[in-house]
Amino acid sequence: MDGNGRWARERGLPRTEGHREGALAVQRICAACGEQGVDFLTLFAFSSENWSRPQTEVKALMALLEEFLVGQREELMQRNIRLRAIGRIADLPASCQEQLAQSIELTRHNSGLTLVLALSYGGREEIVDATRRLMQKAASGQCSPAELNNALFAQHLDTADLPDPDLLIRSSGELRLSNFLLWQLSYTEFYISPVLWPDFEESHLREAIAAYSQRQRRFGAVPEG
Ligand code: FPP
Repeated sequence: MDGNGRWARERGLPRTEGHREGALAVQRICAACGEQGVDFLTLFAFSSENWSRPQTEVKALMALLEEFLVGQREELMQRNIRLRAIGRIADLPASCQEQLAQSIELTRHNSGLTLVLALSYGGREEIVDATRRLMQKAASGQCSPAELNNALFAQHLDTADLPDPDLLIRSSGELRLSNFLLWQLSYTEFYISPVLWPDFEESHLREAIAAYSQRQRRFGAVPEG
């Protein structure tokens, strides 16, 4: 969800105002995904690297997250949205963890859009954590190195029960992966939008989905026909 900082700078506002506006875009796009029949939406809300931002910005982001979790509970229920989270959740402030756990529990039986928040998330960190779990299992004799394959490895990632993304939308024209879902994006289609995240509207989402629907996905195989 890039571009919050630039959106604020363009208006002579503090970066945190860009994040506040970005949180409104989150609400808009969640609602639009639900209405358009998207099954899963994963938002990169806070990366492992974001902890190195100024403390005031980190605090503001955590406060916005908590505000979202409490303030949007009713909306999530009304829209039949199931909330999930990936990342090193134990790194978050205790109050955020509590609100997150409550929202996840409350919405767990919802059957519409699954909204996955990536929080204190890094793709490399996730791969390291999965490897650690597997090494622990191997050390205690629960599995052997010979058994390891893509499927077994994927079962130890935070996304074990989630499908790989079909489409990655990157806002604000950035052309980097920035440590996002490194394993899971192997065959994902990319869509780069020049729009800054706070300006991202349902129409931009529709454009991205329309572009995706024109792509021919081959997963490394030869095209049919
Ligand atoms: C990147 O833009 C954005 C973030 C690091 C934070 C994203 C957070 C939100 C949109 C709001 C809180 C989240 C939820 C789920 C309510 P940037 O700050 O790097 O912007 P820049 O690239 O223009 O500097």
